Amino acid sequence: MADARKGAIFSLTESVARKWNFRRKKRLTEPQRAVRVVALRAAAFSHCDVEASSLTAYAATFHVRGVAIMGKTYKIAVIPGDGTGPEVIAEAVKVIKAAAGKFEFKLDLTHYDFGGERYKRTGETLPDSAIAELKKFDAILLGAIGHPDVKPGILEKGILLKARFELQQYINLRPVKLFPGVETPLAKKGPADIDFVVVRENNEGLYTGAGGFLKKGTPEEVAIQTSINTRAGVDRCLRFAFEYTRKRARNKTLTLCGKTNVLTFAFDLWERAFHEMGEAKYPDVKREYAHVDATCMWMVKNPEWFDVIVTDNMFGDIITDLGAMIQGGMGIAAGGNLNPEGVSMFEPIGGSAPKYTGQGVINPLAAICAGQMMLEQLGEAKAGAAIEKSVMNATAHKLKSLSAGKMGYSTSEVGDLVASGL
Ligand code: IPM
Ligand code: MN
Repeated sequence: MADARKGAIFSLTESVARKWNFRRKKRLTEPQRAVRVVALRAAAFSHCDVEASSLTAYAATFHVRGVAIMGKTYKIAVIPGDGTGPEVIAEAVKVIKAAAGKFEFKLDLTHYDFGGERYKRTGETLPDSAIAELKKFDAILLGAIGHPDVKPGILEKGILLKARFELQQYINLRPVKLFPGVETPLAKKGPADIDFVVVRENNEGLYTGAGGFLKKGTPEEVAIQTSINTRAGVDRCLRFAFEYTRKRARNKTLTLCGKTNVLTFAFDLWERAFHEMGEAKYPDVKREYAHVDATCMWMVKNPEWFDVIVTDNMFGDIITDLGAMIQGGMGIAAGGNLNPEGVSMFEPIGGSAPKYTGQGVINPLAAICAGQMMLEQLGEAKAGAAIEKSVMNATAHKLKSLSAGKMGYSTSEVGDLVASGL
C-alpha cells in the first residue's frame, strides 16, 4: 500500500478512536478498549488489501500503544445547582479539563439542572429515574443546593440527602487543611498545625428521617427524631477510616469523636466496634477517643493533635463547619460523598450563597478542590496533586483573601489562575 494512503488511514482512525466513547461499554477493560481501536484500524487497512501478517504485527504493537495513547475517559455528571453553584462549578470544570489535557485522560461531562429553579418550575427534586441514571457515571460533581424561595428541607432532603442515601455514599470525607498564605482565626497556628481529615458517617444517625410527631400543633405536642446506628453501617465507616488513616500515614492516629457519656446506646455501639476492629485488624493505627464537645475545644486549641477523626453523621456535620472555619472558610472547604464500591459525589461544603449570585465575586477554590478530590478518587493522583499545588500557589502568592469579593480577583480569574498554574 502506498505510504501516503497508509498515513491517511492512520491519522483518520486515530481521530475516530480519540472521539470514540469507549466508556459506554462499561465492562471493557483498558486493553480490550485498545483492541477495539486496533479492530477499527484493521478494518480500514483490510479495505486497502494490506497483508494479513503485517496487520497482526501492527495489532500487537498497537495493543500496547493504544492503552498509552488513549488514556481513560471518565463519565462525570455535573449538577451545578443553585445560587453561586453554577459559577463555582464552571471554574472547577475549567480546572479539571485543563488537568485532563495535561495528564492525558478524558472527561465526558453531562450537565443536569436539578436544584431550586427546576423544583419551582416542575415540582421535581431528584426523581428516581435520575438516581438510576446517575449510577451509570464514574463520579458526580455538585455545586450547591438551597434556594431562598424554597422552604428549608425540601431541596436538601429531596436532592442532596437523596443522592447520598440512594447512591449509598456512606462516607463523607472532609479534609481540614490550612493552605499557605490563608488566614486562620486560630492565633499562632499555621499549615503545619492544621492538617487533618474528618470521616463522617453519611447514611445513618439522625439523618435517616426516622421519627414523627404526636399531637402536632397542640400544647402537648411530641416530636421524636431518632438516631439510627447499625452495626454494619458503623463497621463499614470505621473500616474506611482505619484504612484511610493507615494510608495517610501522617501520625497514624484515628480519633473516634462521640458522646459516650450521654448517648449511651449509640456511642456504646460505636466505641465497641471501634476498639474491636482496631485491635483485631489495625494494630498499627493508634486509637484515641474524644467527646464531641471536647473535639470542638481541641480543634481550636490544639488542632495539630488530630490526624483522622471518625464520627457519626450529625457530629460530623457540625465539626466540619468548625473545620472549614479554621482552614480559612467556606471558600476553600471541599468534601466527597463516597461510595467506595459505587458512584461518589464531590462538592464544595459551603451553601449556595444566594446574595452573591451572578456577581463573579464568589470564591471557586472549594469547588476546584472538590474537583481535585474527584480526580484523586478516580485514580488520577498526579492530576490531583498538580491541582492542589496550583491552588496552594494561588493562596500563597496571589489571592488577597478567600472571602467573596475580597480576593483581588474575580471568580473566573481565580479559575484561570489555577488552570494556568498546573
Ligand atoms: C452539609 C450540609 C447538609 C448536611 C445539609 C445542607 C443537608 O450542611 O453538607 O454539611 O447537613 O449534611
Ligand atoms: Mn453541614
